[in-house]
Amino acid sequence: MAFDLKDIVPFGRSYREYVDMFALGESELAGHVLDCGGGPAAFNAELARRGGSVVSADPVYGFGREAIRARIDEVVPEMVAQLHRNRAKFRWDRSGSPEELVARRRAAMETFLADYAAGLEAGRYVEASLPELPFEPGRFDLALVSHLLFLYGDHLGRDFHIRALKELAGQAREVRVFPLADLNARRSPHLEPVRRALDRAGLASEAVKVSYESQKGVNRMLRIRAVEG
Ligand SMILES: C[S@@+](CC[C@H](N)C(=O)[O-])C[C@H]1O[C@@H](n2cnc3c(N)ncnc32)[C@H](O)[C@@H]1O
Repeated sequence: MAFDLKDIVPFGRSYREYVDMFALGESELAGHVLDCGGGPAAFNAELARRGGSVVSADPVYGFGREAIRARIDEVVPEMVAQLHRNRAKFRWDRSGSPEELVARRRAAMETFLADYAAGLEAGRYVEASLPELPFEPGRFDLALVSHLLFLYGDHLGRDFHIRALKELAGQAREVRVFPLADLNARRSPHLEPVRRALDRAGLASEAVKVSYESQKGVNRMLRIRAVEG
């Protein structure tokens, strides 16, 4: 099925949010990093500006800047309304209000939009869709997946998760995924079956607590690495 821009809600996070979500330190940021499902996040633009090596993969990069901007403009009012409706599920001590949170996300998306043409030219934004990626095996030190797997577990089935994570683990030495909960902030029912399937494929995983928490109680990321030997 062709990817339709109307199917996605672009909600780009900031560099700081990525650092906190994935507990990224100097050593991780110094490697070759893949941001899969990066969408309009500012992570790529900011890491590249700091001299890092980063590629983002997302079907949305098949669209032009103005089409992505128009889609962002279209969904922002709905984002604010949804945050108000689901207020009780979020931590507001860190985010302020729904309007402030959306304003910060908008600023992150502006950073992405300003970098988009140069990033496409440099090969930092690559049109691609899980569960298959176009990169050569082992190209990356670290692959990140923010707010795609597990979160949209109602749309992306268990087998999709297993195929996608095996693919990522073939292209990066380590894979990190956040969050491990669904849109209702409930632990994903896919999590343990997916971990068992990865284990059978020689991929060890651990759920690690991180400092990032936007949905209440959702503060764990999954680290996946090939078992040595
Ligand atoms: C909610 S956004 C998250 C964006 C960014 N990672 C962040 O946290 O700010 C989800 C992203 O996943 C992308 N996406 C949807 N289906 C995908 C697929 N099959 N493979 C890779 N990315 C996909 C969407 O285009 C969208 O940009």
